[in-house]
Amino acid sequence: MKTAIYPGSFDPITNGHLDLIERASRIFDHLIITILHNHRKNPLFSLEERITMIEKAVSHLNNVEVQSYSGLLVDCAKENNCHIIVRGLRAVTDFEYEIQMSQTNRLLAPDLDTVFVTTDMKYGYLSSSTVREVAYFHGDLTPFVPAFVAEELEKKYSAAAPPAAKQKFGTAVLQADK
Ligand code: PNS
Repeated sequence: MKTAIYPGSFDPITNGHLDLIERASRIFDHLIITILHNHRKNPLFSLEERITMIEKAVSHLNNVEVQSYSGLLVDCAKENNCHIIVRGLRAVTDFEYEIQMSQTNRLLAPDLDTVFVTTDMKYGYLSSSTVREVAYFHGDLTPFVPAFVAEELEKKYSAAAPPAAKQKFGTAVLQADK
């Protein structure tokens, strides 16, 4: 049985992640989605919130499991007796970061391979951070995340970016353009 791990921050899960999960679940017999800590990021959603959202989003896929892990990805893979990591490649800008991670993981665990799956073109520039930014300014999240994730984002930012602040910024930009 071919098991693969799909690691990430998933803060929150997006339609791009889901596209990749569906593709990977067709390639592998068993897919483990693992939420790991990215030291470069300070998450908006707690681990429990992220697990709940992912579980709901993948409930239609019966070979997908959701986990979290504290530590190195290579150790997580070892504990799951798994030798394949799946990562998504969107645009060419992902390449540098992804190759660095994959080569680091290979030095740490030579029997662990990273398989890259390309996302659908329409998600080529979609990321959790841009989704959080749109949510912060109360933009329409329909193209980016499942409806229940949009609701969770709206709850998080319900008090943020009052209209007066947005207007002030808009005026300043217009004046600078003159
Ligand atoms: O969704 P992200 O934030 O791009 O995922 C990055 C993640 C969580 C997969 C990466 O930061 C990670 O593997 N973190 C665990 C620590 C680790 O193993 N680091 C060594 C690989 S560079």
